Amino acid sequence: MKTAIAKLALWLFVLLASPLGLAAEIAVEDGDSIQEAVNKAAPGDVILIHPGTYKESVYVDKDNITLRGVVVEGQWPVMDGERKRNDAILYSGNGVTVEWLTIKHYKGNAIMGQAGNNYRIRYNRVIDTGVYGIFPQFGQNGLIEYNVLSGIEDAAIYVGMCDNVVVRHNEVFDNVAGIEIENTRHAIVENNYAHDNTAGLLVFITPGLPIKTTYDVILRNNFVVNNNTENFGAPGSIVAKVPRGIGVVIMAADDVIVEGNIISGNTTAGIVITDLAFITDIASDPESEPNPDRIAILDNLMFDNGSDPVPDIKAAMLTQFSRRGPDIFANLGSAQEADNCIVNKQQYLTFGLKKWSQCERRNTHDIDSYLLADGAPPRAIENDEDRTQRLYQGICAGCHAYNMRMIGPPTLTLQALYHNDAQGIADYIAAPHKVRPDYPPMPSQGHLSAELRRKVAEYMLEVEK
Ligand code: HEC
Repeated sequence: MKTAIAKLALWLFVLLASPLGLAAEIAVEDGDSIQEAVNKAAPGDVILIHPGTYKESVYVDKDNITLRGVVVEGQWPVMDGERKRNDAILYSGNGVTVEWLTIKHYKGNAIMGQAGNNYRIRYNRVIDTGVYGIFPQFGQNGLIEYNVLSGIEDAAIYVGMCDNVVVRHNEVFDNVAGIEIENTRHAIVENNYAHDNTAGLLVFITPGLPIKTTYDVILRNNFVVNNNTENFGAPGSIVAKVPRGIGVVIMAADDVIVEGNIISGNTTAGIVITDLAFITDIASDPESEPNPDRIAILDNLMFDNGSDPVPDIKAAMLTQFSRRGPDIFANLGSAQEADNCIVNKQQYLTFGLKKWSQCERRNTHDIDSYLLADGAPPRAIENDEDRTQRLYQGICAGCHAYNMRMIGPPTLTLQALYHNDAQGIADYIAAPHKVRPDYPPMPSQGHLSAELRRKVAEYMLEVEK
């Protein structure tokens, strides 16, 4: 009798559990496919990836999925792109978590978010993935913590067109750009260790993207040390223009606070604050305001910067009779210098800060986090138009800016090339072949249905800025 009741209870539990959305765990063992587990998973499920080597690209288009590596006695699950696969993990669902994975030798990205909100990316080791390491694009409310990334040709952690992001406790080294906050608002970058990159921390506006602004960014309590690696970015890409030897670059972004960092041993300069002319054609997007405004440099520990500056900075410093590069270099173009401020300016060797005032704010203790306590609502898709726009902004705009070369050719160029041939684009992106010798290969979008590819192609032909 007792066992019958127990059986009945168990049966009822199983029957009720799945519609109630209780999370299931799905185990993936060495030799299995992670993608197959994702295909089987329901929202809320946790996919446990056991130690082994996984040679695949995984696409997660469901909500609330966790990909969790299981590390056993120091043995990790490893995703290996063997230098021939493009991306390790692409997600477009909301509430996706990726943790405890080693990801190496992909040509494109290790982990790329395409318009998913409420993402968590943590405890991953990323080694030598071609373009970006961790790349949430166009997502709201994300946490990126405790990852270690090296050997990446563009940015190791690239937060693009996001809102409400915290990037903390990561180590980034031997990359071109360490951590880059781009066309993103409300971001805190704290307690990271950025060393031996070409440049350590970057806060940018890149013109020609659908989101035009970067503001409310705090860089605090980071170690930004010895970022002197020669730039090995793909020739012609934006990041390839960043001079080596810079701790922090703030380009065109507004309301950025730099506080409590240790910035040392960067041979060109500790911090460079500049308008868009630094690396790009300043007039290229009338909607992206090119000047950095309201920058606040609070207390930071800076020493041994500028021992071997690149020629442009060296020439500027010679006008001040210094052979060293500065701790802080500001080149604000036509901007009002007066709305920027600094604490204890006399401590540093500076260039271009003559009119900076003493900051009224002394710290950012009142700003604990920019994450949203209740999460962000899932990105609503009301109609086909929303869906297409989200696809374009979440995927294509990560590499195609309107009138400037980013990773891929400018959208304007592609519009001229294809005129009205949306189907031609839809076919190309299903199985891209190499066209331009001086560009990286474009990753296949074959995971999108023929209809979606056609729609996003039509959208691309109509984009106007
Ligand atoms: C990870 C970066 C990346 C993403 C994402 C991306 N592209 Fe590309 N795309 C490229 C690169 C790089 C090239 C140049 C490839 C070459 O010339 O060999 C390219 C080339 C193209 C071309 C030109 C093909 C030709 O005939 O010359 C088209 C059209 C295109 N992309 C459309 C798209 C669309 C539509 C999307 C979004 C669904 C997209 N791309 C997403 C990187 C990307």
